[in-house]
Amino acid sequence: MDRIAVLTSGGDAPGMNACIRAVVRSALHNKMDIYGVERGYAGLIKGEIRRLESRSVSNMIHKGGTFLNTARCEEFKDIEVQRQAVEALNAYGIEGLVVIGGDGTLRGAKDLSDNFGVKVMGIPGTIDNDLAYTDYTVGFDTAVNTVLWAINNLRDTLHSHDRVGLLEVMGRNCGDIALYAGVAGGAEYVLVPEIPYDLDKIAASIKKSYLRGKTSNMIILAEGAGNREEIAEYVGKKSGITVKVNTFGYIQRGGSPNMADRVLAARFGYKAVELLKENKDSCAIGIRDNKVITVPFEEVKKAEKHFDNELYKIAHVLNQ
Ligand code: ADP
Ligand code: F6P
Repeated sequence: MDRIAVLTSGGDAPGMNACIRAVVRSALHNKMDIYGVERGYAGLIKGEIRRLESRSVSNMIHKGGTFLNTARCEEFKDIEVQRQAVEALNAYGIEGLVVIGGDGTLRGAKDLSDNFGVKVMGIPGTIDNDLAYTDYTVGFDTAVNTVLWAINNLRDTLHSHDRVGLLEVMGRNCGDIALYAGVAGGAEYVLVPEIPYDLDKIAASIKKSYLRGKTSNMIILAEGAGNREEIAEYVGKKSGITVKVNTFGYIQRGGSPNMADRVLAARFGYKAVELLKENKDSCAIGIRDNKVITVPFEEVKKAEKHFDNELYKIAHVLNQ
């Protein structure tokens, strides 16, 4: 294979730039031409494709976001729209594609491969860590650390003012960001979509803790686990103690990737190019037990995410 392209799609994630860089530098090392597609599948169907050089990715390794930009592109689910993408790739003589994104992006990759025989390697890049076939996705570790920074700040002010605070974090339908940040940040209550919770019990426990002299408490709410305002109001009413709502949205999705995400990005990007060079079948790349693995796209869809119940239990034992 002599000519390949790379794109980022779906929500951006810290480490996407480091991953593009890894793909570009590995491709050039293997004497392949490398092209960048702007704005994910949305740019691909419009032929927004440009040649990348080694210098195109200079000074990129530490930057958050994605310099190729990203987009959501609902119409890409339509096979006729996918055909336009294939025509664009053909127009540039591109024989293989690396896509970096989340669950939706990998579905798009599967379609391009199944419907048109395009060789596509999928790299998991999303802060959500919601892909079951891989232990980690690029961006998750950095996002959790950003949430941890927020938790630390919140803790200072909650403690000073004897308050109860609720912090909503991202993750779509996955509670991993909330869980890991909650454990690392010592939050008293962690609410995730995977585990049912009882607001009456939480309110009673907060009230009891006040009587014991513990006057600040923190609830971390995964966005997929309920409505932040409703939960705060309910717990506030039941406990008789006001719950302050905090949410910091996109701030947790941006920022410089940390070591874990840069190294993961490097390993995934390098592997994707190796697979294309060897003309291997399309697949998704992931990491399990610190080993880079590949799985057919079919398995990405089937694999069900197993929530870490043990870690959830630890959070509730240690943080009360
Ligand atoms: P993420 O990749 O972060 O999960 P999305 O779910 O928004 O983000 O998916 C990114 C893009 O992938 C979508 O905007 C769309 O272009 C494409 N995509 C998502 N689902 C499918 C699907 N079932 N078939 C084809 N393409 C899809
Ligand atoms: O998938 C990443 C993510 O940030 C999710 O955590 C969140 O639910 C979603 O994207 C937000 O999407 P948008 O970019 O459309 O606001």
